[in-house]
Amino acid sequence: MPYAAITGWGKAVPERILTNHDLEKLVDTSDEWIVSRTGIRERRIVGKNESTTSLATAAARNALACAGRTADEIDLIIVATATQDDFLVSEACMVQAELGGTGAAFDVGAACAGFVTALSVGSQFIASGVYRRVLVIGADTLTRYVDYQDRGTCILFGDGAGAVVLEATSTQRGLLSTVLGAEGGGHKHLYVPGKAKLVPESADLFADDSPYMKMNGREVFRFAVQVMGESAVEAVEKANLTFADIDMLIPHQANLRIIDAAARRLDLPRERVWVNLDKYGNTSAASVPIALCEAAEAGALKEGANVVLVAFGAGLAWAAGVVRWGTDGVAAPGTGTATPTA
Ligand code: ACO
Repeated sequence: MPYAAITGWGKAVPERILTNHDLEKLVDTSDEWIVSRTGIRERRIVGKNESTTSLATAAARNALACAGRTADEIDLIIVATATQDDFLVSEACMVQAELGGTGAAFDVGAACAGFVTALSVGSQFIASGVYRRVLVIGADTLTRYVDYQDRGTCILFGDGAGAVVLEATSTQRGLLSTVLGAEGGGHKHLYVPGKAKLVPESADLFADDSPYMKMNGREVFRFAVQVMGESAVEAVEKANLTFADIDMLIPHQANLRIIDAAARRLDLPRERVWVNLDKYGNTSAASVPIALCEAAEAGALKEGANVVLVAFGAGLAWAAGVVRWGTDGVAAPGTGTATPTA
């Protein structure tokens, strides 16, 4: 059975920076409150020439260049997003239009848990032998749905995209275990009501048609602390590893207090937990792949390292897995056999 090694990684974030001090001018908050309650110092916000597609495409190009692959060598593009640019067309098709290629392309919707979920979907297409090369992207521009008069949400979110290339190998690399779950009844704690507004006949079914995100922060926090720890532990166990085997935790970057709670459950010291939410805030489906990309670029992930990925998000949904880092056994660009077997 082939494994799905991560052979390339890339990220893209908007140019515009929104600092905590900028937010102090918009709502009744303070840099001190935001840093102490979340760990976030600044975030990136899309400008008028940027979009989910532009960020996803830029991240994908970087990942392809890192892997030494071209778009026409990719059998499948999966984009994890909650903020696709077109109501009808998948973000994966929008990205493919920019990159080129004619492989399969579809989206996965699991909000902030989307990238880890999509990684599991893409890895399974490789493990089953259906495809040999899959591009998995996490991209979101949630700030388009943020109310900058609501201090409970506007401090948290930023925009961005991260991507990885998966390739078949006979060496045990890539995702070793997958833990996915959802508590659908919790959808009412984090949602954007306004989509009903786009469908005139259904508009009166919804009393609240605000175009902005609504969040019960305390309820989401409680849920996140529980599922981040539990699903990370389960992912380690399913991979037949112990906590001592884990080299790095790369968690969804929502809140430092949630990350610390997950790290405690895995008995991991802070230096083995990748944290970059101070720079980007919560970038939704982009958060885990941006962090993964930065950890790889910093040389923090060695061949054979065991890396726990864990995320939670609207749904309420969660996703976790252990990735064995490295490209051992992957055919070098230019020498591998071509494309789909199905
Ligand atoms: N600045 C100053 N004070 C604030 C702010 C702010 N930005 N926001 C809330 N407060 C106040 C509240 O009004 C409250 O005041 P009160 O006691 O007088 O009523 C006080 O601070 C405490 O409020 P809490 O909501 O209890 O604050 P908490 O410590 O829970 O932090 C936070 C709030 C940061 C939102 C936290 O609950 C959290 O991180 N929740 C998880 C949210 C999350 O991760 N969402 C993303 C999910 S992923 C996805 O799919 C998009």
